[in-house]
Amino acid sequence: MCQWLSLQEKSMTDDARTAIRRQRLGLIILALLSLVAGALSFQGTRDSWRLAASPAPGSSADVEPAIDEPALPPGPHQAEFQAACVICHSARLPLTQPRLSREKWIEVVHKMVVAYGAPLAPEEEVPVVEYILAIQEPRS
Ligand code: HEC
Repeated sequence: MCQWLSLQEKSMTDDARTAIRRQRLGLIILALLSLVAGALSFQGTRDSWRLAASPAPGSSADVEPAIDEPALPPGPHQAEFQAACVICHSARLPLTQPRLSREKWIEVVHKMVVAYGAPLAPEEEVPVVEYILAIQEPRS
């Protein structure tokens, strides 16, 4: 490419050569300017993030956000449920399902293990189902 360009330049008039050099210089300056503009606007976003992350002391944004997790009702194998079922989503997701059959729950829990990787040993799957069944509202 450079070789080709310099070969071309040899067969050109001086005027044409300066014109091409000017054009190249123009392109280089343009590229540098856009780099600077990009860097400046990036700096801008970083600043606004920093401002958002540190609110004025005493303002309401200073208060820790409440983690709106439902308390787990006591029941058999609550610990296994707690350890395996609230990592990826709220406990609300399993706890607010319609009252499913035992077989359906076995299926759902198994899906959480095989499809998403819920950390449950095979022999812990049924105990977790027992917990969900024990704490669900009785069928009305
Ligand atoms: C590794 C991540 C992960 C873990 C751990 C996990 N889940 Fe899920 N769960 C998901 C994802 C992702 C979805 C939503 C996708 C879907 O609905 O198929 C979901 C959806 C659900 C649903 C909605 C209905 C359904 O079938 O999708 C229920 C109920 C549920 N999970 C129960 C549980 C229970 C009970 C446990 C504990 C054994 C558990 N989950 C552990 C990832 C996980």
